[in-house]
Amino acid sequence: MELKIIKFDHFGRGIAKDSNKIYFVDKALPGEIVDVIVTQEKKNYNEAKLDKVIEKSNQRIDSICPLFNKCGGCNFLHTTYEEEIKFKKEKALELLGRCDHFYETKDMNYRNKVTLHVKDDKIGFYQERTHEIIKVDYCYLLDDRINRVINELNKISMSDYNITKIIIKSNNGKVLLDVDGIVDDFFITYFDDVDTIISNNKIVKGNGYQEEIIDNKIFKITSKAFFQVNKQGLENINRIIQRYLKDKKINKALDLYSGTSLWGILISDKVGEVTSIEVNKEASLNAIDNIKKNIISNIKVINGRVEDYIDTFNNIDLCIIDPPRSGLDKKTIAYLKKINSKYLIYVSCDMFTLKRDLELLKDNYIINEVNLVDMFKRTYHVETVCLLCRKSVDK
Ligand SMILES: C[S@@+](CC[C@H](N)C(=O)[O-])C[C@H]1O[C@@H](n2cnc3c(N)ncnc32)[C@H](O)[C@@H]1O
Repeated sequence: MELKIIKFDHFGRGIAKDSNKIYFVDKALPGEIVDVIVTQEKKNYNEAKLDKVIEKSNQRIDSICPLFNKCGGCNFLHTTYEEEIKFKKEKALELLGRCDHFYETKDMNYRNKVTLHVKDDKIGFYQERTHEIIKVDYCYLLDDRINRVINELNKISMSDYNITKIIIKSNNGKVLLDVDGIVDDFFITYFDDVDTIISNNKIVKGNGYQEEIIDNKIFKITSKAFFQVNKQGLENINRIIQRYLKDKKINKALDLYSGTSLWGILISDKVGEVTSIEVNKEASLNAIDNIKKNIISNIKVINGRVEDYIDTFNNIDLCIIDPPRSGLDKKTIAYLKKINSKYLIYVSCDMFTLKRDLELLKDNYIINEVNLVDMFKRTYHVETVCLLCRKSVDK
């Protein structure tokens, strides 16, 4: 059936309408006339896939990746980066009502981490919404050091080592390979370019961790600890935070959902004291090491859930909040209202939960700025850095 695409939905799919239904068409662009095949019929809408482009958008380009139509990792390889940026800005305008600055990611191959799955010796990504593995030889989002390891992994038998899951990280020119199988001397020698190898949670080569240098501070990152996947994006978020803190007097700060204490450490010389709260044990131990390595004396680390500790603080001037996609729970929202921190910096990787949380905080906090940082170029995801101040404080 033939449809005219009106605009993007929030996941980068084309939206079309006929007399009685809305259609969400994967990989169709605004302005295009397309032939589609309906893949799912629902009561109020249909999902469809592109069969043929009848009238092409001038923003359509050929995908550089042969896996684009199979692997759900990228959403925008069929269009220009300008069109993707427009989509991301419009999404922020629709959901959050504003978009003050957009920070681009210049190059492809920006990701410093990948998780791969293995089945029947096939190494790759899960196809979207399935456990079908799409074999990967090269990924345009991944750092080329990671691609080189994938290329080598593809040449040996994973079943010989019972490997079903692989993590590869690349930071500061060094590579870490973490597998859930048991590797042997051949495997270790074969990957002589890899700096650290972890097999079934045991370090079998190297020191077992990665390091990254941000703003003259050094960060230790072990395999299972969260770290931002795009260094340029991370540095842009840091620029936004540093700019916001300039000329502000901050005595007590909280770094909530702190990972390796990234933001806490990066603001530590601008504030009186910081408490970082992180649930993951490994990340919290990295944070303690990072504080020592950088000779910082004003950060305390709590290994626990934000919602279990948040009500033990008062007289807070700044909260940096960087939660997982699910956003903030009810108790944390209630307490953020109660402690009435002078400033909040909300770093979010999910605009829907951010919108929900901002709505719940709006009686107490005013939004000063909404910044988009393109942490996940070529996908529909984007990092949002929201700068807020409490209603009773002048900007
Ligand atoms: C998006 S990451 C941000 C980490 C860190 N701020 C950074 O930029 O590297 C979210 C972090 O929140 C942690 N986390 C998830 N739920 C949590 C909770 N209820 N309390 C504390 N930490 C939590 C995760 O382990 C993860 O490290």
